[in-house]
Amino acid sequence: MMRPTTSSSWMPSVSSAALFAATLVLLAGAGCDGALLKAHFYRHSCPAAEAVVRDIVAARVAADPAALPAKLLRLFFHDCFVRGCDASVLLDSAAVGGAAEKDAAPNASLGGYDVIDTAKAVLEAVCPGTVSCADIVALAARDAVSLQFGRDLWDVQLGRRDGVASRASEALAGLPSPSDNFTALEANFGAKGLDVKDLVILSGAHTIGVAHCNTFAARLSSGSGPNSGGADPTLNAAYAAQLRARCGPAPAAASNNATAVAMDPGSPARFDAHYFVNLKLGRGLFTSDAALLTDRRAAGMIHRLTKQGYFLQEFRNAVRKMGRVGVLTGEQGEIRRNCRAVNT
Ligand code: HEM
Repeated sequence: MMRPTTSSSWMPSVSSAALFAATLVLLAGAGCDGALLKAHFYRHSCPAAEAVVRDIVAARVAADPAALPAKLLRLFFHDCFVRGCDASVLLDSAAVGGAAEKDAAPNASLGGYDVIDTAKAVLEAVCPGTVSCADIVALAARDAVSLQFGRDLWDVQLGRRDGVASRASEALAGLPSPSDNFTALEANFGAKGLDVKDLVILSGAHTIGVAHCNTFAARLSSGSGPNSGGADPTLNAAYAAQLRARCGPAPAAASNNATAVAMDPGSPARFDAHYFVNLKLGRGLFTSDAALLTDRRAAGMIHRLTKQGYFLQEFRNAVRKMGRVGVLTGEQGEIRRNCRAVNT
């Protein structure tokens, strides 16, 4: 398994967010258009497309139900936040002649690539050159997260095309950092056309999956108050003690990329509203999670989001919006034959 780098976390993305915003504006000028996506885009060109992805994802999640849905959902997010949802995250460095997104520090612990490769291989055999890698990523995330419900949690609009470039530097600049404060997060999401509500709701994805100690260790030793036990005072003291016990003492924890903890203790593999319950109790794992309580608009949304029905309904809208960020459609980009390399 690939692991995150040994740095305590990647750099806050305040200034780089502005640069990235400018890049996206340029990309938008080049014609990204989420409005051109549509349901059942492959109905005529590849009728089996959605069922193929669904079956492969179901088989793979059955073998790894605790970890894989989180990996595929995060893969979708990291794809969309850099160059839009264009499968640029899947390209190998060797194939683009330089460090690609997947080799940037924030992507070191991404996974699920092999699931996408398997689906792509089957789809190339069934309908060559038709179904984009970007659409496979979007479908796989939805299918994996939905399996525990026995119904689709959101519908996926299709018709994305694949990009032809991938740069590690853009991943570093474009992805939010776990040490970001609210201002940085709002700027980062805003650069992708996502608002404060989207930021709060999409952060609820941290209801599943794990994080490695090096991504939050700074919070375990940054406090100085009498009751902080050495931890960030916004972190629940009992929770901080549990995390410290798992991750080890301060200097070592900052480079501990081998130990992972559940991000939503109490219900780590259920896609539920429990993330928001924990958040209210000071059990948001990252500075970026706790930051949602520091803004009046964001904090005002959290109580309602502790209700499962409301969370799922709002997540459906926000994740669909995320899936439209910076997409290539029509004649833009290409349909890759192999998701790891641009066509030659
Ligand atoms: C708001 C800004 C966000 C930040 C700073 C952030 C940061 C992180 C970090 C540092 C990890 C742990 C990685 C590791 O140690 O392996 C993580 C895990 C995860 N993130 Fe986020 N994230 C954010 C938003 C999102 C969004 C919008 C989604 C999806 C819609 C998402 C989905 C996930 C999932 C599912 C995991 C667990 C991955 C696994 O178990 O392999 N995150 N995130």
